[in-house]
Amino acid sequence: MKKLCKNINETKDFADKILSLAHKKALKNDKATVVALSGDLGSGKTAMVKILGEKCGVKGRMPSPTFVIEKRYRVKKGLPWEKLIHIDAYRLDKESEIIRLGWNENISNKKNIIFIEWPENVKKIIPQNAIWVTFSHKGETERLIETK
Ligand SMILES: Nc1ncnc2c1ncn2[C@@H]1O[C@H](COP(=O)(O)OP(=O)(O)OP(=O)(O)O)[C@@H](O)[C@H]1O
Ligand SMILES: [Mg+2]
Repeated sequence: MKKLCKNINETKDFADKILSLAHKKALKNDKATVVALSGDLGSGKTAMVKILGEKCGVKGRMPSPTFVIEKRYRVKKGLPWEKLIHIDAYRLDKESEIIRLGWNENISNKKNIIFIEWPENVKKIIPQNAIWVTFSHKGETERLIETK
């Protein structure tokens, strides 16, 4: 899927498509659902995770985990997951820090949905069946968003 989202509302509509793709994956997956969000600084990765968090019933703010690396939230009932894990690998240059934070446990639990920004920094640990979402900055409020 690919869409030029002209403003944040169009990004919100695209988020529904990502969530339904994730939902389908979760039903046939015995491990966590992993969504890798790739794209330049300010291209909308955190904005997308916040939108998806809201759709998953996360209560309260979802600050960017750039400094803490990982944040965990509870998912509302009725979805395939119990925990939403938001990881920002921007400051990392290898996999060891993420493994230290419990990556192996995180991905072996099918009740987790994991959103990871800057996945290319820790490429080796991203599972084969992850959903990749790529963001490109096209204008002040325009973002080209693609999934594969
Ligand atoms: N159509 C749009 N879709 C998504 N975000 C948009 C859009 N238009 C404007 N924005 C704004 O662009 C900014 C994107 O910032 P965001 O923090 O999400 O980027 P990021 O990709 O996470 O960057 P970083 O690599 O620094 O983590 C936000 O302030 C958001 O409100
Ligand atoms: Mg970000």
